[in-house]
Amino acid sequence: MARSRPVSSWTLFLSLVVLIGCIIVPGLTVKHENFKTCAQSGFCKRNRALADDASAQGASWSSPYELDPSSVLFKDGQLTGILIKTTTNNEKFRLPVILSLLESGAARLVVDEEKRMKGEIELRHNSKINKKRYDESEQWVLVGGLEASKSAALNADAEAGFTKVQYGPDNKFQAVIRHAPFEIEFQRDGETHVQLNHQGLLNMEHWRPKVEKEGESESAEDESTWWEESFGGNTDSKPRGPESVALDVTFPGYNHVFGIPEHADSLSLRETRGGPGNHENPYRMYNSDVFEYELNSPMTLYGAIPFMQAHRKNSTVGVFWLNAAETWVDIVKKSTSSNPLSLGSKSKTDTQTHWISESGQIDLFIFLGPTPQEISKTYGQLTGYTQLPQHFAIAYHQCRWNYITDEDVKDVDSKFDKHQIPYDVIWLDVDYTDDRKYFTWEPLSFPNPKGMQEQLADSERKLVVLIDPHIKNKNDYFVSQELKSKGLAVLNKDGEIYDGWCWPGSSNWVDCFNPAAIPWWKSLHKYDKFQGSLSNLFIWNDMSEPSVFNGPETTMPKDNIHYGDWEHRDVHNVNGLTLVNATYQALLERKKGEIRRPFILTRSYYAGAQRYAAMWTGDNQATWDHLAMSLPMVLTNGIAGYPFAGADVGGFFHNPDKELLSRWYQAGIWYPFFRAHAHIDTRRREPYLISEPHRTIISQAVRLRYQLLPAWYTAFHEASLNGMPIVRPQYYMFPEDEQGFAIDDQLYLGNTGLLAKPVVTENTFTTDIYISDDEKYYDYFDFTVYQGAGKRHTVPAPEDKIPLLIQGGHIVPRRDRPRRSSALMRWDPYTLILTLNKNGEADGTLYFDDGETFDYERGAYIHRQFRFRGSTLSSEDLGTKGPKTAEYLKTTAGVTVERVIVIDPPKSWKDKSTVTVIEDGAKTASTASLDYFEQNDGKADYAVVKSPNVGIGKSWQIEF
Ligand code: NOJ
Repeated sequence: MARSRPVSSWTLFLSLVVLIGCIIVPGLTVKHENFKTCAQSGFCKRNRALADDASAQGASWSSPYELDPSSVLFKDGQLTGILIKTTTNNEKFRLPVILSLLESGAARLVVDEEKRMKGEIELRHNSKINKKRYDESEQWVLVGGLEASKSAALNADAEAGFTKVQYGPDNKFQAVIRHAPFEIEFQRDGETHVQLNHQGLLNMEHWRPKVEKEGESESAEDESTWWEESFGGNTDSKPRGPESVALDVTFPGYNHVFGIPEHADSLSLRETRGGPGNHENPYRMYNSDVFEYELNSPMTLYGAIPFMQAHRKNSTVGVFWLNAAETWVDIVKKSTSSNPLSLGSKSKTDTQTHWISESGQIDLFIFLGPTPQEISKTYGQLTGYTQLPQHFAIAYHQCRWNYITDEDVKDVDSKFDKHQIPYDVIWLDVDYTDDRKYFTWEPLSFPNPKGMQEQLADSERKLVVLIDPHIKNKNDYFVSQELKSKGLAVLNKDGEIYDGWCWPGSSNWVDCFNPAAIPWWKSLHKYDKFQGSLSNLFIWNDMSEPSVFNGPETTMPKDNIHYGDWEHRDVHNVNGLTLVNATYQALLERKKGEIRRPFILTRSYYAGAQRYAAMWTGDNQATWDHLAMSLPMVLTNGIAGYPFAGADVGGFFHNPDKELLSRWYQAGIWYPFFRAHAHIDTRRREPYLISEPHRTIISQAVRLRYQLLPAWYTAFHEASLNGMPIVRPQYYMFPEDEQGFAIDDQLYLGNTGLLAKPVVTENTFTTDIYISDDEKYYDYFDFTVYQGAGKRHTVPAPEDKIPLLIQGGHIVPRRDRPRRSSALMRWDPYTLILTLNKNGEADGTLYFDDGETFDYERGAYIHRQFRFRGSTLSSEDLGTKGPKTAEYLKTTAGVTVERVIVIDPPKSWKDKSTVTVIEDGAKTASTASLDYFEQNDGKADYAVVKSPNVGIGKSWQIEF
């Protein structure tokens, strides 16, 4: 008989370690060695070195760029001229510059290089690529807003050596251009808000031939990354040599800068030149599939929007750096003081930013605000607003990698119903395909895709399937054959079809820069090509950075070639945008006459992609820290003009415990794009599988999202008209409240006054909500009152409670009848929630339409303004009539307001039992009952009007 050994304390310790290891999810960390730091990226390093040099030289540093005064012309809102760059060898290079003053109040500075424009350069390695600096980003990104200012004029008072142009609303803006050294200051009302080249870091690496040197180079410059650059075993051949562009942008007196997604970092961006709490590297924008990405980092992620807002008390300004190449942004905050002995109020902070791109032109837009709303609007005029999505798209999406059969999908679908949890969309990840060939179905596991979609359609649900831009390189695959025979693939540097490794193994990539790729891509989405797909199927474009498993930094080589003979280097960051542009067109009309709003999800994006697709933050992890980070990430996207954003609810990698999962749903309902997703190796976690009480907690959260869908859709509509974020950070709502500027863990839903602060830490049962103003805020569920400006208020947050307040002064539309999917709520009546502000008034809006077609463009919608003034609640029309208005109003005639809940009503209402209801067109007024409910313990009273039954599309008044 074997003797059992006594358990040593060492064995015990080891067992404990193993046990703890099993319980605690190991934190995954990114493989830093796979992605460049600035020091490992030649052009970034060179430009940072230049900045270091400038800062070391201090006042004796002078920018070697001068505007040739004799070249300056001003005509029709445009100032043109030639910048001269003088090198240390006294060589001179001509850089044509255009400063356009736009009717919108924005200004645009474009700088190019004459030699490259004229093609007077030699390419290396017999390359046939385009000799110019890439100047086509705008074709993908800009959709308007470029009308020249009619009133812009030269200011005759300019001192010698300066040119001044007045422009903007009432000509209150002025661009002050110093010729030598070249600098531009943008002023509003005589005060400087944005300075270009104030630090003297403007740099345009001019073309030069490679001079073969023997032995040690005499040159002081480090040429090691000019002609070739290697990283991780890949060598970039650089046929055009060094060509980076860089410029410093200073925001004098501005302490906060926001934007430039995508990074897993705070909303208020950090400094990037080291020091406690700061980053060591600039924020990088080079769309990448970063496996196991880290938090609080300036590392690049999947998307890029080089748009930044700078904010200080009561003033917001911004810049948009339109460049599709790899870009880095350094941020430094400098405290200055007009009087060196003064502390506090007299001292101010300047934020200095340094923008560095690998190639292309300098193309910079400058916005002078002064409000964040104006900046959103003007930026949106240029890059387009979020498309008003189909209504289902703003409801709950159920995804995982992978639902394994069509029966599995049907089963999940039925179980949601059985457990009475609403959802609208179920998703299929990559493995629904036959051998990872897109536009096909795995025949054994998905033998009946139509039957599956039909079951979903029974409850008006949708299916989203994944279609990636890599096409399996297989001769018997029709998509691959067509891609090759039509010449639509991205090429390698030698002009052959580029082959790389992705999900299907050996793959080729569709080049959506090629106009001919669009009709082809459209044809693939037609019902006869994508067989087995029905009209309730929509598309997920993933891996579109593009992700290439065996490529440099998990993407394509920079010397790959796209349509127009542009290098991948030039266009990398807009690549994902070109794919969703093609998919958008494909989904607009899958069969003749069936025109509907497309729904697409994209992982990679650039400025402008908001016109086509929703985005999500990629492969996060099931940890509390990732849950917390999702809020600043979504908020940042919103202020960067891309509000239809979300994060994988539950976390992509790993298994969340029940508490984390429920808290994630409670937070996820505040993402404009609300989807649960999980990695293939995770345990199933559909909400109905979770044991009680968490199943109910999650169901309640999802139901709250559904209840508030009218408010969400209204906020989306607003975003589609003026670029306003759908969920908004504190500074955006209260631009005067300095204490709120850095807050990024609570958010406002549109204009509703709803203020949510999801719990994002474990074992937390209260939370502090910061309130900027002096209005009363009411707990959404029990009407507890919180009031007091400029401080935090402790709000209970037991596991089953979402900390949610509503500010006084709002009228919020919602729908209270739970249904299986949002489409089934279409004819349901509305409830209005009303809170009064200090003046006893309230306002709110409601927008809705058929949620599917473009008929709203022809008047088929309802847009109402609700107001409470004196003792009257009214509904007025905000819409303008179109050819489809009357018909739409007829179809919605039966939709009414079934209830009005007034929180904290005037005490005099205690004595009332009815209200008078007057509806436009009704012969007589009617009455509805009013019940008054008293509460105590800090909870406000409330009153309920039952069944006023006024038509939602009609004008009416309710007299209290
Ligand atoms: C990467 C995506 O980020 C993830 O969401 C997806 O599940 C996998 N690709 C598989 O398609």
